[in-house]
Amino acid sequence: MTNPASPKTYRVKSFGCQMNVYDGERMAELLAQQGIAPAPEGEEADLVVLNTCHIREKAAEKVYSDIGRLVKAGRAAGREPMIAVAGCVAQAEGEEIMARAPSVSMVVGPQAYHRLPDMIERASRGEHATDTDMPEDAKFAALPKRRKVGPSAFLTIQEGCDKFCTYCVVPYTRGAEISRPFSDLLREAETLVAAGAVEITLLGQNVNAWTGTDDAGRDIGFDGLVKAVAKLPELQRIRYTTSHPMDVTDGMIAMHGEVDKLMPYLHLPVQSGSNRVLKAMNRSHDAAGYLKLLDRFRAVRPDLALSGDFIVGFPGETEAEFAETLALVDAVKYAAAFSFKYSPRPGTPAASMDGQVAQEVMEDRLARLQASLNRDQLAFNQATVGRTCEVLVERKGKLPGQWLGKSPWLQSVWFAGDVVIGDIVRVELAEAGPNSLEGRLLERATA
Ligand code: 5AD
Ligand code: SF4
Repeated sequence: MTNPASPKTYRVKSFGCQMNVYDGERMAELLAQQGIAPAPEGEEADLVVLNTCHIREKAAEKVYSDIGRLVKAGRAAGREPMIAVAGCVAQAEGEEIMARAPSVSMVVGPQAYHRLPDMIERASRGEHATDTDMPEDAKFAALPKRRKVGPSAFLTIQEGCDKFCTYCVVPYTRGAEISRPFSDLLREAETLVAAGAVEITLLGQNVNAWTGTDDAGRDIGFDGLVKAVAKLPELQRIRYTTSHPMDVTDGMIAMHGEVDKLMPYLHLPVQSGSNRVLKAMNRSHDAAGYLKLLDRFRAVRPDLALSGDFIVGFPGETEAEFAETLALVDAVKYAAAFSFKYSPRPGTPAASMDGQVAQEVMEDRLARLQASLNRDQLAFNQATVGRTCEVLVERKGKLPGQWLGKSPWLQSVWFAGDVVIGDIVRVELAEAGPNSLEGRLLERATA
């Protein structure tokens, strides 16, 4: 019933945001480089990495039920896996995790996972290892080169957050804002394209806070980086997420009218439509300022699909303030959105604010908000019916001969036809549902 001496197979399970998906892929590459193979589908792995999310309580608690399940399955099979907890719960809770879940032998934070091989070696000798250091940018240099990726790949360009929204753990778990150097990013983008990516999504907690200097030593902002990445000849599409209203620049707005490869999609969280709540959240923008920004984006790119994040039930939120969020949603008409009940997080200022809102009230508000958001998402999808657009084929659909891809507006589109994964094909959007559209294949746009 002990850990396998040295693991032969691994499984990485990522929760939460796309940054974690990126980190999970990088950890998998690192483990593969150590000669550890991905566990075959349906088989228990010798080493399981739980790449966790701490953003809301429910996400954070999930890790413990997962550990319990892994241990139970391991006992049934007569062999417990070696368990590593990575990601933001690891950063926030550190060694406490092992006190609560002794089957965990490694705890590794999001800035330290390049040290996993060494930790595995120690764990193989029966030692427990914790590493929640935050060495600036050391992780990326220590990771292996990327070899094989899907047609749509993530590239982390910026990490951490200095905004300190009063509800949010990210500034504590991911640390201060850092921008990866320009030349490293271009090199990684080139490698991704060489490894099969036709679309790159630039990632950051505040992706548009990225700053750097180009090869000529000139200071450039996020728009300069996007334009440089767009010059890679074989790259067809660029996306980015998540951006913050405070870091929007004139150049960033303008690039949506200038860079053909930049897809017409903007995820710009607002959180609330109430100025009082926004101020208490320390959001550094008000509702009118946010709407004005969106108008400016739409002026350069009228078909821009908009998406946002919302929190209902922030401490002190009244029914009238919540109604202001609904009014903002009605004004914007989002193509997609993410909405959450406020979850008090340990150590954040909002957790100890007066006026915590009752669960039933939050549930009611969330249901009403989501009804509005779902209505708008369906309306957005319906408005694209009859249009012809390019779809990047990402995977096989459920039925034989069926494929699933993404429209420029990040809609899931399924269709039948003779294509391969990674193709960009012309598709007529024929029928719209709330979460996907059915398309008719017209022609293959790329070979
Ligand atoms: N409670 C609920 N939602 C939260 N978010 C961040 N912190 C919390 C919290 N404590 C949401 C915000 C953010 C998204 C990533 O998660 O909407 O934009
Ligand atoms: Fe959290 Fe606010 Fe930073 Fe976003 S901007 S990561 S919500 S603190």
